[in-house]
Amino acid sequence: MFLSSLRLVDFRNFKELEVSFSKGINIFYGDNAQGKTNLLESIFFLSNLRSEKAVREHQLIMHNKPLAYIKGIFNTGSGPVEREIILYSDRKKVVKEGGEQKSRWSDLCEDLSAVFFSPDDLNLIKGSPSLRRKYLDYLIYQLKPVYMKYLHTYYRVVSQRNVLLKSIKKNPSLSDSIELWDVQLCDAGSRILEERLKLIEVVNDYMRKLFNGFCGENPVLNVKYISSVSIESRDTIKRDFLKALKQEREKDISRAFTANGPHRDDVIFLLDGHDARFFGSQGQQRLLALCLKKVQAGILAREKGEFPIMLLDDVMSELDSSKRKLILGNTDSQVFITTTDLSFIPQDMKLKSKLFKVKDGSLEW
Ligand SMILES: Nc1ncnc2c1ncn2[C@@H]1O[C@H](COP(=O)(O)OP(=O)(O)OP(=O)(O)O)[C@@H](O)[C@H]1O
Ligand SMILES: [Mg+2]
Repeated sequence: MFLSSLRLVDFRNFKELEVSFSKGINIFYGDNAQGKTNLLESIFFLSNLRSEKAVREHQLIMHNKPLAYIKGIFNTGSGPVEREIILYSDRKKVVKEGGEQKSRWSDLCEDLSAVFFSPDDLNLIKGSPSLRRKYLDYLIYQLKPVYMKYLHTYYRVVSQRNVLLKSIKKNPSLSDSIELWDVQLCDAGSRILEERLKLIEVVNDYMRKLFNGFCGENPVLNVKYISSVSIESRDTIKRDFLKALKQEREKDISRAFTANGPHRDDVIFLLDGHDARFFGSQGQQRLLALCLKKVQAGILAREKGEFPIMLLDDVMSELDSSKRKLILGNTDSQVFITTTDLSFIPQDMKLKSKLFKVKDGSLEW
């Protein structure tokens, strides 16, 4: 799958843009603050219908404009897909495919996807557990869109249970009603746990192959899901979760907070048994972060039968040639790369690429 053309109107600092891309490598180069990342963001947003960077979608609209328009034509294995998004500052976005407005996400083409590589990915290894949960959750969602509903349900139940815990603390006679919420929490939470545990096995497999393929047999990598609930096996999730909630109930009431469940879990990367977050070298941590993104692309390609678009924001300068091979090798993905300096891009790659100069919200090629 690849994006053959893109049109932007009032998207961030792009007033108006109409451009065609190569199905191979495309390079956006230019000084700081010209719009390189914004371009990648528009491609990510169009493919995945969510923003990688913006906290709120209306931030994508050019300052003081009422709306932004993004249109792209994707070539997929089953034919061309024309997708348009109109973002409004004061109401919900409109998504169209083939000129027709789609109100349900399930009516949209599921083959389109992009993976965003950025220097911030290091936070996937070094940052807070919520980033690693988000990585897993987003990948599961990309493979199985209904998962987003499971997540919403779960997080709603957690917050309602927390409200109840606060009330019980003030008025202990309410404590009988917690039982009901525990069952609901378990139902919703065990679906999340099941999906995450299933995915982590695949991620572990892929990661080990990539990581050890890159740096030899040593150190041995193990990617592990660390659950705040002690789980015996994938078949006993519900039972184990309910047991943990019961055990922790008094403590939960006194802290007025649900301390166990998938909203508190984490993923760790063990190098010869030692947590890479605390014991890995900078280089190993960077490599793990790259591998994680590459694994995301690999799993998407395998499950969807289409290679996702790869968006590499400013990562070339920090990659030596072997790491470049790790990311770009073994893939038929269309690639978009940004750089401030074309000399960071190896000559042979430049020769194969379509080059675009980005200057103050416009492109020259
Ligand atoms: N909603 C918006 N409306 C107008 N301009 C915006 C909006 N959001 C961001 N910008 C501007 O877009 C410009 C380009 O941002 P972008 O992050 O794409 O730069 P870049 O070329 O990637 O630079 P760098 O090399 O520093 O990463 C910035 O000057 C930023 O202020
Ligand atoms: Mg940038």
